[in-house]
Amino acid sequence: MCINVAVLLSGNGSNLKAIIDKGIKVSFVASNNPKALGLKIAKNANIPLYSWKNVSQLEKEVLKLIIDYNVKLLVLAGYMRLLSKNFVNSLPSKFIVNVHPSLLPKYKGMNAIKQALDDNAQYTGVTIHYVDEGMDSGSIIKQSIIKINDNDTEDTLKDRLQEIEHRLYSDTIKSILIKN
Ligand code: GAR
Repeated sequence: MCINVAVLLSGNGSNLKAIIDKGIKVSFVASNNPKALGLKIAKNANIPLYSWKNVSQLEKEVLKLIIDYNVKLLVLAGYMRLLSKNFVNSLPSKFIVNVHPSLLPKYKGMNAIKQALDDNAQYTGVTIHYVDEGMDSGSIIKQSIIKINDNDTEDTLKDRLQEIEHRLYSDTIKSILIKN
């Protein structure tokens, strides 16, 4: 798929890998964490990569890169910082998407999987949503629900949720790009 997306991440990059494997063209990857494993995935795929520990510098540079690379959609894939109001408002609405491991509006923010387990929830899931100025509060595009088993741990639940994320996020990104 030849329409450019850019990816922001902080960690492992398994969602980035799924996006690349689905044939979506990633113009660049940026991170607030220079040691993020996701940057290695970008490197192996010959995708330009950037990192700035300072989040306000990162946002300033990413806004410039979005123009330079003619990016049409900014994809958050495990980016663990709240984007500033200024950054979000500098871009068109519905320009940024995020994947979150809960059925929003439940369990916003960090440790969403642990929050669901601590709450003895029977179900949880994955949400793909547009990003606005708030924390995990933008309009919901897609959700997928799963049952939490009695013997689930954070690790087993994370594995099952990520399996869903890898399929659902790529498919959703593709359908947004086709519509635009
Ligand atoms: C994903 O499971 C994603 O849902 C979560 O971080 C993980 C990143 O995994 N994002 C959030 O919790 C955002 N609030 P990855 O680096 O392997 O793609």
